[in-house]
Amino acid sequence: MEETSQQQSDYHGNVPRHVAIIMDGNGRWAKRKFMPRIAGHRAGVESVRRIVQVCTNAGVEVLTLFAFSSENWRRPEQEVGLLMELFFSALQRETKKLSSNNVRLRIIGDRSRFSGKLQDAIAKAEAATRDNTGLILVVAANYGGRWDVVNAVRQLAVQVEKGELKAADIGEEQIRSCTSLADLPEPDLFIRTGGEQRISNFLLWQLAYTELYFTDTLWPDFKEEAFNAALDSFSGRQRRFGQTGDQVEQSQGA
Ligand code: IPE
Ligand code: IPE
Ligand code: MG
Repeated sequence: MEETSQQQSDYHGNVPRHVAIIMDGNGRWAKRKFMPRIAGHRAGVESVRRIVQVCTNAGVEVLTLFAFSSENWRRPEQEVGLLMELFFSALQRETKKLSSNNVRLRIIGDRSRFSGKLQDAIAKAEAATRDNTGLILVVAANYGGRWDVVNAVRQLAVQVEKGELKAADIGEEQIRSCTSLADLPEPDLFIRTGGEQRISNFLLWQLAYTELYFTDTLWPDFKEEAFNAALDSFSGRQRRFGQTGDQVEQSQGA
């Protein structure tokens, strides 16, 4: 086969540039094994490690993972505490490995609610991987899609208050540019593991035209084969963005 200048990929279909995943089902995975919920979250971290590698090999550019929602504070205090510890230790342990795989890490969400220690670890991990040029790994932590939109609108309101922006000039582009991920391509493929078919306040603005894929597989069991099944589903879809199928075929043929 002829070498092309395109990124080499293990996957031979149409690869999404940006994949966004709700990693759900850790608790049920543990329960089925008569283990405490935290054991499911630990297995979930293993799964993250694997999927980061699979995405790198497939040639995905951006992987966004929902790790902790702004609503997850409602869980029992003990589980929240253990999740924070797990997040901290994963940052400590994985940063070197991410760097050696050329992965750039970014955390999105309201980090002001985290402990100072965790905020420092986040800043250090981001700084340590800042110059990497491979996969961009975005971890959504204390993230909510509504928070993201509110945050964007508030930034614009400040500009209006200062007289730098007119209310009449606020359009989609102004809001978009103030949301998390504004500098990245929008998600092409959304995956939710664990069987639920809902968005749970994940990327609301950014998912407007994303292809949605739901699987019953629990997150700790979500391996390369399951990921490839999602890629296959994506490959077989026609993205029309409001146009007709004929229009899309014509422009692709052109
Ligand atoms: C997802 O797994 C991880 C987090 C929300 C932190 P869950 O903990 O929601 O697992 P289930 O849904 O209870 O099985
Ligand atoms: C969504 O999962 C959040 C994360 C995976 C981090 P949840 O398990 O919290 O979602 P709901 O509560 O079932 O909608
Ligand atoms: Mg859940």
